[in-house]
Amino acid sequence: MKLSAFDPVQWLVQTAIRHGGFWRLPIPFWHIYMVSRAELVQTVLIRDHDSYGKSGPIFNRIRQALGRGLFTAEGSDRLRMRRLLQPAFSRSSLTQTAALQSPLWQAELDDWQHHDVVDLAASFIRLNMRVLARQIAGDHLSEAEVTAMTASAAKVFRGMPLMAIPEWLPGGAGYRQAIAELDGWAYLIIERCRQDSPHNRTIMGRLLWPEDQGQPLTQRQLRDQIFTLLMAGFDSTAVAESWFSMQLAMQSELMQQLQTEIETAVGSQPVTLADLRHLPSLAQAWNETLRRGPFPLFFRSVERTVQLGGVTLRRGSQIILSPSASGQDPHYWPQPEVYDPDRFAEPGAAEAATRNGQYYPFGMGPRQCIAKDAASMQALLALAELLRRYSWRPASAKPLRTGRYAMTQAPRDSRVIVAAR
Ligand code: HEM
Repeated sequence: MKLSAFDPVQWLVQTAIRHGGFWRLPIPFWHIYMVSRAELVQTVLIRDHDSYGKSGPIFNRIRQALGRGLFTAEGSDRLRMRRLLQPAFSRSSLTQTAALQSPLWQAELDDWQHHDVVDLAASFIRLNMRVLARQIAGDHLSEAEVTAMTASAAKVFRGMPLMAIPEWLPGGAGYRQAIAELDGWAYLIIERCRQDSPHNRTIMGRLLWPEDQGQPLTQRQLRDQIFTLLMAGFDSTAVAESWFSMQLAMQSELMQQLQTEIETAVGSQPVTLADLRHLPSLAQAWNETLRRGPFPLFFRSVERTVQLGGVTLRRGSQIILSPSASGQDPHYWPQPEVYDPDRFAEPGAAEAATRNGQYYPFGMGPRQCIAKDAASMQALLALAELLRRYSWRPASAKPLRTGRYAMTQAPRDSRVIVAAR
């Protein structure tokens, strides 16, 4: 195999599957385990979640960037942040987010008419960051500023997995620089939003003037929350949307089937939030896309000595959970390499697979993704409108492959040739 074709994350995933979904990585002096066996995933994330936290070397690296934002916070701090932020992602906020997204996406899709080849991932990232910036800061950031902030976020994400690089090597210092750059954006957002009225219900407004009447958040706490949301949201949904669209690019029949569903249910008007419930095949294809997850891995640390899968794990051991390994395990998914939305044809199939511990693209239990519903709604709306307006095929004849791991893992090449419909 050519070295450039070797994908270390997918190698880890496949090795974990071969070891029955529970495997200690052969790294001397490190106690680090891959976990993707359903009942063990349920134990770590739900049944015994108090024994598994977010500390140790992996989280030190992540905390260097995110500080103590919602993703890394623990205990009562985390619960308060979750309560303050939850309304911004609740079902009742979806209508507002959809209204924000639609004109931005229409403008992006209008622009496609001037291009034969489009990089899907770049378009999706642009859209999602514009929406997220508006959710966080209203109209305080210009389009050019959002673009520059996106570039800073990408640098931090690329640096995060390089845990083994000491600071004195070039890659180590680069990470700190990237964090400082994104810090600049977070503090700028805070400063501009302080000028708003206290009734402002942007995310920043919810944090600056908390409804729970508790202590005001410090400047550092505000920075950590904004930094966390930018990192968690900047490309997660976009990566999943890119995989979805590339799968369809490879399967024109499936693309036509979804386009027919949209034509029948929606007609020739732009797709609305209310239309989504009439597009079951679209939702099935989205669920099937998430089976490999945009996040192939996420992490936990063992906080007290535990028994897991018949093995004693001592305090300080690190756990890598892998939605990708669970999603590609033939014990749970016959012919896992085949992209087959019919796996989710039965109503409630995705929820049942999550309950069984076999499917958790958004995590599970108390630390499940805060934006689970909002991210799926935004994606379905964007993808439905894309399908209504365009058909597309891959720009390259090369098979669909994973790109470089940077917390998420996007398709290596997401350029497509587009044709307006
Ligand atoms: C398809 C898109 C997305 C996927 C697949 C996804 C996946 C995940 C996963 C797997 C976790 C759990 C990590 C863990 O247990 O350690 C998580 C947590 C989180 N996600 Fe997402 N995410 C997505 C979109 C987003 C977006 C758009 C945002 C924000 C704008 C977001 C914000 C968060 C936050 C703040 C947490 C931490 C929650 C907590 O610990 O209480 N996610 N996400």
